[in-house]
Amino acid sequence: MKHELVIVLDFGGQYNQLIARRVRECNVYCEVKPYTMPLDEIKALNPKGIIFTGGPNSVYDEKSPHIAKEIFEMGIPILGICYGSQLMSYTLGGKVETAPVSEYGHTEVEVDTKDVIFDGVSDKTVCWMSHTDYISEVPEGFSITAHTPVCPVAAMAYPEKKLYATQFHPEVMHTAEGMKMLSNFVYKVCECKGDWQMASFVETTIKELKEKIGDGKVLCALSGGVDSSVAAVLLSKAIGKQLTCVFVDHGLLRKNEGDEVEAVFGPDGHYELNFVRVNAQKRYLEKLKGVEDPETKRKIIGEEFIRVFEEEAKKIGAVDFLVQGTIYPDVIESGLGKSAVIKSHHNVGGLPDVVDFKEIVEPLRMLFKDEVRKVGLELGIPEYLVFRQPFPGPGLGIRIIGEVTEEKIKIVQEADYIYREEIAKAGIDKGLGQYFAALTNMRSVGVMGDFRTYDYAIALRAVNTSDFMTADAAQLPWEVLAKVTNRIVNEVKGVNRVMYDCTGKPPATIEFE
Ligand code: XMP
Repeated sequence: MKHELVIVLDFGGQYNQLIARRVRECNVYCEVKPYTMPLDEIKALNPKGIIFTGGPNSVYDEKSPHIAKEIFEMGIPILGICYGSQLMSYTLGGKVETAPVSEYGHTEVEVDTKDVIFDGVSDKTVCWMSHTDYISEVPEGFSITAHTPVCPVAAMAYPEKKLYATQFHPEVMHTAEGMKMLSNFVYKVCECKGDWQMASFVETTIKELKEKIGDGKVLCALSGGVDSSVAAVLLSKAIGKQLTCVFVDHGLLRKNEGDEVEAVFGPDGHYELNFVRVNAQKRYLEKLKGVEDPETKRKIIGEEFIRVFEEEAKKIGAVDFLVQGTIYPDVIESGLGKSAVIKSHHNVGGLPDVVDFKEIVEPLRMLFKDEVRKVGLELGIPEYLVFRQPFPGPGLGIRIIGEVTEEKIKIVQEADYIYREEIAKAGIDKGLGQYFAALTNMRSVGVMGDFRTYDYAIALRAVNTSDFMTADAAQLPWEVLAKVTNRIVNEVKGVNRVMYDCTGKPPATIEFE
């Protein structure tokens, strides 16, 4: 079934995918396309509406992205946001000027509630602004539908032509009634009916994967994390046994994790696919022997992962496609790539150079994490896998400060298991961004029974975060911390002290190494 479609034309704004996601939240399918897409191709897609994103440029700069005037004549409703609004104004003969100071952040906007975009919105509503240029004169036919004390045209409209624009960003959460505005555009201007749900994504993606792959062979590096698991299940539903999942157990997984992944994806599991578990614990321990430096540890673990994967891929023979569970935030992070290296992240991004294949398949590329989780539930993947907290590729290797040994792995696995168990028992697991136990390299004196001990200290960490770029230490209930501490020192041999990490990110990072 063909779904209604709204397209987002990307003019370089940082929220382009977020706009698409908000439209999908309105149950209308939405995809981001480059602003350079030719008009006849846009027409061929038969979109119900088009949204122009923001962007960092100024319309008067020749090098800035521009758009042919004809797009406004196609009879397709258009909503311009931020730069997109200025571009609409400029292209249609309005005036855009540069303000002496930028308007940035929460702003109270006075809106004309008779305008369809603001239907049902309060007449004074908080919106998120981020601009220096502004529309000083609207083009012929347009009327001003919102303003602020410093921004004469916070929104404009030409209802007869179905053209609308907002200087602020309705797509971000800081715009209190932004979802209402987008929904008004999608339903009342574009006249969509809302025929899209995650189930439709699953259905369409499986169909597309079938067509694309035909009878080709597909390889997937499965980590047991949410993204690669969801990608693997989608592929399995599409092509069954043409898919081989390679799961490298580096021995640095959480307690029971390897077996859990095997139970779901292995021969006795729920899915039709070929599953290869490589038990590479010994190999990793040998490579990590005597290594203390965090970056060196990360590099060794990452490289060894690639080597093991490569060996398995060779055994399988020539593969046509490599599956990656890349999701949208990964795309942004790798796109930016200009910031200083804090840690060299280990993920499957390093694989394509070493495995012989024709093409990469990334079925989740346009989704956000919570959308991936919805797809996972839709596919019937067990909830404990779908809601798994993030776990770094190098695993416990970066939660053990200093040299990694078999004994230390065991200690941190047991302590972490107890911690997770008590957090779940207390019913606070869903509210936390990430929580885990790490093993410090510190040993200290204690007393147990009548004996002196000289054992390790476990550090407990729990953070609240939405994007994992910044995080606050979570204020866990003292009773939970006391219970966990008690159990760890009593049940985990080699530990006589437990500490709680109160540091945020920055200055600390979430993981210890
Ligand atoms: P940091 O420690 O940098 O972590 O504050 C931010 C988030 O990223 C996860 N993380 C990783 N994930 N490969 C991954 O796939 C890695 O090498 C890696 N290192 C950190 C970390 O668990 C947190 O969620």
